[in-house]
Amino acid sequence: MRFLVINGVNLNLTGKREKGVYGAKSLDEINARIAEFANANGDSVDFYQSNIEGELVNRLHEAFLTQSHDGILLNAGAYTHYSYALRDAISAIDIPVVEVHISNVYAREEFRHKSVLSAVCRGVVCGLGVGSYLSALVGLKESLR
Ligand code: DQA
Repeated sequence: MRFLVINGVNLNLTGKREKGVYGAKSLDEINARIAEFANANGDSVDFYQSNIEGELVNRLHEAFLTQSHDGILLNAGAYTHYSYALRDAISAIDIPVVEVHISNVYAREEFRHKSVLSAVCRGVVCGLGVGSYLSALVGLKESLR
């Protein structure tokens, strides 16, 4: 299967910012691990990162309009908590999206406990570091069988 991993705002600084929360691995290192895992399971994976809300929306649209992928993992960063534009984009497309977070958002500040995306996502995985992406991949693939 073909998967797309989209990382949103501030995720490009992973490995450099708040290492105690998000770990020491860079986004490139995280993506390399996801690719290794996906390829070992016979799947392909593409990656996209942007800090700009509209670009994330555009990438979701593009995947839908070209039917380029079977499923999407989305770590929208802080947009998770308030972006109705991303929520509508997920609702608009017929490719299933799993919401992913590196940290356990429920063990953190109150404002992180609310996601405006979860209700329109196939599932949600958080708190497992790189394992959140890998778990999401396994679960999404199984749900597509
Ligand atoms: C995050 C959690 C969000 O609350 C935060 O704004 C992020 C990263 C995570 O991966 O744990 O930027 O999505």
